[in-house]
Amino acid sequence: MPQPTAGRILILIKPDAVERRLVGEILRRIEDKGYSLTALRTVTPTPGILAEHYAEHADKPFYPGIVEYMTSGPVVAAVAEGQRVVEGVRSLMGPTDPTTAAPGTIRGDLGRDWGTSAIQNLVHGSDSEDSAAREIAIWFPELAG
Ligand code: RTP
Ligand code: MG
Repeated sequence: MPQPTAGRILILIKPDAVERRLVGEILRRIEDKGYSLTALRTVTPTPGILAEHYAEHADKPFYPGIVEYMTSGPVVAAVAEGQRVVEGVRSLMGPTDPTTAAPGTIRGDLGRDWGTSAIQNLVHGSDSEDSAAREIAIWFPELAG
């Protein structure tokens, strides 16, 4: 069972993964490693919620591509809990570029380059405890605090 000091991470299963019916496969990998899924929701992101979520990328040349990608269909938002869960889930995901992400990772096993402006890479995971708290408040406002 998770301990009181357990960390949290916000996960988004992105529209390409939902379209390809990979939701179960991705959640299974996170559960198989031993983390607990404590919140789960399907939502089609609006440009407004993405502007909050991806604020750090607002000035990047690929930002319009992110909005096009992430509003193209529903995503599954989840909160996972466990000691060092941010490190653990980021490790399961692999790096941003699925073409070179190592086999064994979600992006390395299941992703590829589709020639789009924003890289389609199946899954998002918060990159720090602070990012996780900020992002959980965006996608699950009822859990904030
Ligand atoms: P994420 O935030 O989605 O978990 O991914 P990440 O940390 O691995 O990558 P990040 O640098 O935060 O970029 C956010 C998302 O923007 C898209 N991207 N496209 N065309 C490009 O060079 C490019 N760079 C980033 C990807 O969808 C990436 O996950
Ligand atoms: Mg990121």
